[in-house]
Amino acid sequence: MPDLLTDTEFEEFRKVIYNESGITFSSTNRSILDSRIKELLREKSLTSVDVYYKLITTNKEEMKLMLDSVTTNLTRFFRNQPHFDAFIHYVVPHLLEEKKKAGDTKIRVWSAGCSTGEEPYTIAMILKTILPPPYTFMVTASDISLKSLMIGQLGFYTDTKTEGVPPEYLTKYFTKSEGGYQMKKEIMDTVHFDYHNLKNDSGARNLDVVFCRNVLIYFDEPAQFAVVNRFWDAMAPHSYLYIGHSESLFGMKTQFQFLKTEWACLYQKNSK
Ligand SMILES: C[S@@+](CC[C@H](N)C(=O)[O-])C[C@H]1O[C@@H](n2cnc3c(N)ncnc32)[C@H](O)[C@@H]1O
Repeated sequence: MPDLLTDTEFEEFRKVIYNESGITFSSTNRSILDSRIKELLREKSLTSVDVYYKLITTNKEEMKLMLDSVTTNLTRFFRNQPHFDAFIHYVVPHLLEEKKKAGDTKIRVWSAGCSTGEEPYTIAMILKTILPPPYTFMVTASDISLKSLMIGQLGFYTDTKTEGVPPEYLTKYFTKSEGGYQMKKEIMDTVHFDYHNLKNDSGARNLDVVFCRNVLIYFDEPAQFAVVNRFWDAMAPHSYLYIGHSESLFGMKTQFQFLKTEWACLYQKNSK
């Protein structure tokens, strides 16, 4: 199929998307951007790329819709189980030790780039299952995809989407309904969905765990570095950072320490 965007237009869109979100389109994935812009023009009944470009650069809501369309929202429940094994057997027990010393009873988790909610709900189901009283938790789930956030907020997942959920969790935390499963209120109440662009500081502080998995892969190194440094500021002195299984902070001058547990590798903030 012939390209819609000329070289100049591709550069313009590429630049504006990068500046607004950190998402990097290279010449190798140019065709993806091309087809998504084509789709957007069709939706808006526009024929001119130039007119559409002016629209997104002068209208904040249109910019949000465009960014939503260029994101990749692939996710699933219990994605990369070893990460959650490390969470259950290493991260949470260590956090509880620190909490005990500090006289704090709340665990604060952020799922940054949460897509349609499977990741934050997985975290919430695990914490609900393993945390002993008097400990409580809250999960903040954020994304720049409004469509994905809406799905997360509804908490309804088709039979196919719930295939990765262990049977005991499915029975305990979901209600079966036609064509799928509805997440129960007791879990939904612990997850707070919020629109947040990782280009900006979220203002959150004192977080115990940040999950930002399979998000950094869409950013170039300077954008990754900026995001990771903002996580540092948002995290508590003894806290943990998860990035995707195929992502790495290797070679990046961050203050995070690499942590190899029996189950999976993650990063740790250890500062006093
Ligand atoms: C592939 S999904 C990963 C979902 C989940 N973390 C997982 O590992 O299954 C990547 C998500 O990152 C989001 N994202 C991309 N750029 C972002 C940005 N600048 N700010 C916030 N979210 C972003 C996308 O909208 C998408 O939902």
